[in-house]
Amino acid sequence: MLRNITKKDVNDLKEWFDNYVYTFKTGDKNQRENIALKEEHTRRVRKEILDIGKELELDEHALCLAETIALFHDIGRFEQYARYQTFVDSRSVDHALLGVKILEDNTVLRSLDKPVQDLILRTIRYHNRATLPREETETCLFFAKLLRDADKLDIWRVVTDHYHQEKDKRNDAIEYGLPDTPVISEEVYYDLMNKKIVDITHVRNLNDFKLLQIGWVFDINFSSTLQRVKTRHYLDMIRDVLPKTKKIKDIFAVAQSFLNGR
Ligand SMILES: [Fe+2]
Repeated sequence: MLRNITKKDVNDLKEWFDNYVYTFKTGDKNQRENIALKEEHTRRVRKEILDIGKELELDEHALCLAETIALFHDIGRFEQYARYQTFVDSRSVDHALLGVKILEDNTVLRSLDKPVQDLILRTIRYHNRATLPREETETCLFFAKLLRDADKLDIWRVVTDHYHQEKDKRNDAIEYGLPDTPVISEEVYYDLMNKKIVDITHVRNLNDFKLLQIGWVFDINFSSTLQRVKTRHYLDMIRDVLPKTKKIKDIFAVAQSFLNGR
């Protein structure tokens, strides 16, 4: 019989997280700002995952598991930034794999049963992949989907705040240092018109990057997440900071009708 993960476990793990993150609160203003960015993101993803989980009527243990997954999903971000001064995985490390390694090296999850530990590590490993693996248990896929939805909700919040801020106050790490040129890439247009998420290798400038975030609506798993996208007007806020061209109008028509139809 498996021992269920409890609120006490989650509190102990939060304490480990706080102590770990504290060790990165050094260095210059940029580093401190970016460490805080991911710390705050983690806090809000925990809240998002709990809100969605409660709407799905998960029991207390499942909520504890979901919260733990959210707590650790970006644990690799701190060391990634400290080592490489970037959040771009392709220019540094896969932050999900680094996170799994950090949790393993520090035996952070040792008080939990082995199958629970494995489940947590697998969902973290998958959270930043373009698609989820087919060969997985239903439970693992369920929690991985929950995490991906909660994570996207908060990234939408971060980027929409960011785009609506004055240029000189913006944090470059959020837009991955992409050039702000006036066009959009053909491949990005076709991905979205086909209701597919944008292939990251097609992203060449800031407009493409914003469009990639529009395409996340095609990769949302739960209707309560889509509901939140609607009531928070994330798509409108991204459209407001894109050029008013025919192609972009076409893309929004497709995304909006997809959102309304779900
Ligand atoms: Fe995240």
